[in-house]
Amino acid sequence: MTDQTTERKPIIYSGIQPSGVLTIGNYIGALKNFKLLEKEYECFYSIVDMHAITLRQNAAELRRRTIELAALYIASGLDPDKNLIYCQSHVPAHAELAWILDCFTYMGELQRMTQFKEKAAKNEANINAGLFTYPVLMAADILLYQSNLVPVGSDQQQHLELTRDIAIRFNNIYGDVFTVPEAHIGKIGSRVMSLQEPASKMSKSDPEDTYISMLDRPDDIRRKIKRAVTDSDAEIRFDPENKPGVSNLLSIAAALSDQSIDGVVNSLQGKGYGDLKQTVAEIVIEAMRPIQSEFDRLMADKAYVQAALSRNAETVAGRAAKTLYKVKKKVGYTLPDRKQGRVQ
Ligand code: AMP
Ligand code: TRP
Repeated sequence: MTDQTTERKPIIYSGIQPSGVLTIGNYIGALKNFKLLEKEYECFYSIVDMHAITLRQNAAELRRRTIELAALYIASGLDPDKNLIYCQSHVPAHAELAWILDCFTYMGELQRMTQFKEKAAKNEANINAGLFTYPVLMAADILLYQSNLVPVGSDQQQHLELTRDIAIRFNNIYGDVFTVPEAHIGKIGSRVMSLQEPASKMSKSDPEDTYISMLDRPDDIRRKIKRAVTDSDAEIRFDPENKPGVSNLLSIAAALSDQSIDGVVNSLQGKGYGDLKQTVAEIVIEAMRPIQSEFDRLMADKAYVQAALSRNAETVAGRAAKTLYKVKKKVGYTLPDRKQGRVQ
């Protein structure tokens, strides 16, 4: 660890791709928890547009979604002056470190990544080299900032293991250059399930009726929850194994109203599934209302959002430069002598 990091709060790093709307699953599993971590950690939250282009994107849409994601981070309560919310492509050190780490990662390791296999199977016409080396760029994101903790969903655990392996391999050759990060997987119950197939995770890449977007308006929220799959008995009880649909609705309600699951169940004693759905819908609507109105306000003032991203990019670039400088020296790059305009 460097001298600076020993005096600092531990560092959290996480990233979200600007490649689609965010669901209440993203909010409950990720964004809502980020807010709780603000005090104890120094938090870096990136909008990983460089990862997003591993799948073909429409340029105008990618730009819009990048700003929207920044606005959603902020609207969820993350103050951009306290949390380093920034855009990955604004900081060239990510690409520079990714190249170096590419040379310390084996083909066999990348071939084993389940996300690559899944995405390759879905996009046969565009299995590009970026899709293959995607996890190395993610490792670069994390290692550049000497991050201690990485809050991610369980689907990212394999990428985090690889990040650790790369860091350890590099450190074994060159000494303690990188902090080896730990994954922070949310507690059980922070996995929000699909409204239509409660056995699988709510995901923005599934059909519309299976998820609730953070930006869905009240009528859509009511309609989707009304149609959510439950079961054929009528008892409101938390039992994820036998009653996955009802249990999912109860967890959503509990998470978004800061109650225990028992509290929600008790408040619905003697009631039926119709009442349960109505209660859940109103809780979701109320939880999203302030976020949505803040989001609308921010989108009407994009200059503010853009300025925050630019400011933070400058701050994090300074931090990234320290790690990158060290890495370049270790691997034997010559470093340009700025004063003399010549190479040392
Ligand atoms: P993704 O949308 O897959 O890029 O995920 C961004 C982050 O949101 C992940 O690291 C997860 O922690 C979280 N997340 C996504 N979907 C869910 C879900 N259905 N339930 C809980 N957390 C989720
Ligand atoms: N690969 C992550 C996902 O799809 C996004 C991501 C990119 C990320 N870089 C990261 C997450 C660094 C945590 C840390 O969800």
